[in-house]
Amino acid sequence: MSVPMGYSRRQIGLHWLVALILVPQFFLHDDIKAAWRAIRKGLDYNHTTWVTFHVYAGIVILALMLWRLSIRVMRGVPRPPEEESAMMKMVATGTHWLLYLLLILLPITGLMSWFGGIGSAAEIHEAMKLPLFALVGLHILGALYQQFVLRTNILARMKRAG
Ligand code: HEM
Ligand code: HEM
Repeated sequence: MSVPMGYSRRQIGLHWLVALILVPQFFLHDDIKAAWRAIRKGLDYNHTTWVTFHVYAGIVILALMLWRLSIRVMRGVPRPPEEESAMMKMVATGTHWLLYLLLILLPITGLMSWFGGIGSAAEIHEAMKLPLFALVGLHILGALYQQFVLRTNILARMKRAG
């Protein structure tokens, strides 16, 4: 498979769309947590907008990540910038793959707990919160380090299709 010179418009669009949906998913989860606790105790739960949002936005993220993964496998991604050390290239690529993994496993375990009533799936779902947070943080710091310290202009790769 030939290596593309840059990300396609579709890859860039999907990158920013997932990032956007992920923010409320990540920070506004109190209602779904409360709903889940109530369900486990056999009580009625408060069906707020954020409960519905969490479930459907999670399903949308799963669909978008699978679509994105298929594009990544079929089309590929550009090589990392030459200025990066071998170690940085490895960390960046590893981070990208782990983000795919978590953003596919999170909704699957969410679905298993919410629709399947599987308590252990909810525990795994919850346990993936911190690793996801750490990886997204590392990813953003890495991008900013490249942009402003190494001056590779990496952000342009996620702005303009190539
Ligand atoms: C918040 C959720 C985010 C997730 C889940 C995420 C995920 C990813 C993934 C998986 C890739 C690999 C390319 C691909 O397969 O599409 C990537 C590339 C990239 N991301 Fe993000 N990203 C996020 C946010 C951000 C933010 C806020 C920035 C800017 C500060 C950013 C900048 C970049 C850049 C510049 C690349 C290209 C890196 C390269 O080609 O080496 N991302 N991102
Ligand atoms: C990428 C998609 C998703 C992300 C990033 C995500 C993230 C989170 C986070 C951060 C929490 C709070 C964990 C805690 O602090 O205890 C949570 C809780 C929960 N989520 Fe998700 N979620 C996603 C998709 C889904 C989906 C699709 C469903 C159901 C269809 C779901 C169902 C739940 C449930 C039931 C809880 C409560 C679990 C508990 O408190 O033990 N999630 N989610």
